[in-house]
Amino acid sequence: MLRTTTCGALTLAQLGEEVTLSGWVQKTRDKGFVLWVDLRDRYGLTQIIFDEERTPKEVMDQARSLGREFVIQVQGTVIERESKNPNMSTGDIEILATALTVLNAAKTPPFTIENETDGGEELRMQYRYLDIRRKPVRENLVFRSRVSLAIRNYLSAHDFIDVETPYLIKSTPEGARDFVVPSRMNTGQFYALPQSPQTFKQLLMVGGMDKYFQIVKCFRDEDLRADRQPEFTQIDCEMTFVEQEDILQQFEGLLTHLLKEIKGVDVATFPRMTYAEAMQKYGNDKPDIRFGMEFAELDSLAKNKGFNVFDQQELVVGIAVPEAASYTRKQIDKLIDWVKRPQIGANGLVWVKCNEDGSYKSSVDKFYSQEDLAQWAEATKAKPGDLILVMAGGTQATRTQLSALRMELAEQLGLRNPNEFAPLWVVDFPLLEWDEESKRYHAMHHPFTAPKPEQMDMLASEPGAVNANAYDLVLNGNEIGGGSIRIHDAATQEKMFDLLGFSPEEAKAQFGFLMEAFQYGAPPHGGIALGLDRLVAILGGQETIRDFIAFPKNNSGRDLMIDAPSPIDAQQLDELSIALQPKTD
Ligand code: AMO
Repeated sequence: MLRTTTCGALTLAQLGEEVTLSGWVQKTRDKGFVLWVDLRDRYGLTQIIFDEERTPKEVMDQARSLGREFVIQVQGTVIERESKNPNMSTGDIEILATALTVLNAAKTPPFTIENETDGGEELRMQYRYLDIRRKPVRENLVFRSRVSLAIRNYLSAHDFIDVETPYLIKSTPEGARDFVVPSRMNTGQFYALPQSPQTFKQLLMVGGMDKYFQIVKCFRDEDLRADRQPEFTQIDCEMTFVEQEDILQQFEGLLTHLLKEIKGVDVATFPRMTYAEAMQKYGNDKPDIRFGMEFAELDSLAKNKGFNVFDQQELVVGIAVPEAASYTRKQIDKLIDWVKRPQIGANGLVWVKCNEDGSYKSSVDKFYSQEDLAQWAEATKAKPGDLILVMAGGTQATRTQLSALRMELAEQLGLRNPNEFAPLWVVDFPLLEWDEESKRYHAMHHPFTAPKPEQMDMLASEPGAVNANAYDLVLNGNEIGGGSIRIHDAATQEKMFDLLGFSPEEAKAQFGFLMEAFQYGAPPHGGIALGLDRLVAILGGQETIRDFIAFPKNNSGRDLMIDAPSPIDAQQLDELSIALQPKTD
């Protein structure tokens, strides 16, 4: 070994011991007759002292030539520090160096490798291996490893078997575009990388595996956001002979276990909310319920009072912002500008200040009496000192806009406490979603999701009104998982493909293997997949999953470090029988 201990281990208990440490030079401070080096490895930092009185001259000279990020090995004695650093685990001691070996020199890094860095995000992605040397990034990866292990342990203890499924498959429609891989041996044909192992895990149930899990990479060619990467990791699970309730309880168990083991938090409840209720109360199917500001529909109170901006609208809806009646005109105007930005797209905001003396002051005083506004306050549960904000328009768009405003205000008011965890299930999703553009239904979850058994008959008569046996697990305003009870008989699956606009031939070509499997004794089954990246980020108190992925891609789906994607050479294209054509638009 090139070391006897690590840079995070030594305390006064080892005083006087001779040790050898290896690591990276984070910083040097040269005071002339003494020189300090902060030596870093995965475990921490240890201060090394070289001093003219006690360190051999050649070692002293060598130390003076060290640059940032040099890799060195130091031998020395553990001594007590004169000025201690209570913020470091090794802050009571330092190593008086007796020998120094440079294991490798380093170019000056393009950004400082300390907790706070001067490097911009793109630069840090380009040199991700340097960023990983920084404590916050390193700790996120260590944290992820802990969470993964806890998940494996829990699922194994509950009889789930880890089975690997292939990456080179046929496309599985999950709503996004596929990444495809050309096949050299099958000219003109392509594999698709899995958007999820959905059909394979169902086939494992047909194969009698009973309880399956896999911590697995999934690939989706979709627009990227803070909580989306083109390749991401799912905790993918499936169970046989279960109903929705069994799955909800099993995975409440998993999350409860994780919160306790990883965060030391006890979760009291997992409320369940229907999709319809979530949309009505929060304008969103992944509500953050750590704070209130629930929507109140004000149509009956606000329409037909002479304010014709509201009269014509499908929905008038408001929220009470706690203790915001003191907002200045300027602050309110800023909020109005915020909702009018194209990203939100609202027409405007009506506001009502609920004064401490019980009176109201609003932007629509001309149209509404104090009694009217008192009714708005009652509906929105506004207290004296609160600010009511009201929007109007088409139902869906207005809900989405007010939901964005609710989240923004919660952020501004510090209501999104990262140390509080509020999970919930959203259930009873619609089975199908009408798409105006293609004039056909899409599966809201995926085409393998079973309708509510009691609504089976409605599939033919009013398919748009049928609910699915599907559920999402939501944590702090993020969808961390989704799943469903599956269709397990060929006839219903065929009917579903038909509703989704597949001809029998198309259905057979794409999913013949599944429908055939359903004819060989497919058991009732269902499952769920949790997004590991999202789960880890939220448990870590953050929402940007990039920070918890060792080598993430940027918002254009590029890996800046290896510079991918990139062109391939003509010979490779030729072998794959691919002829590139210039784009013509
Ligand atoms: P779904 O599509 O809901 O379900 O995905 C499950 C979970 O995966 C996470 N997730 C993502 N995380 C990061 N980047 C992405 N691009 C991304 N897309 C999804 C989310 C989501 O809740 N086969 C079904 C599961 C099932 O029915 O069992 C599926 O994939 O946290």
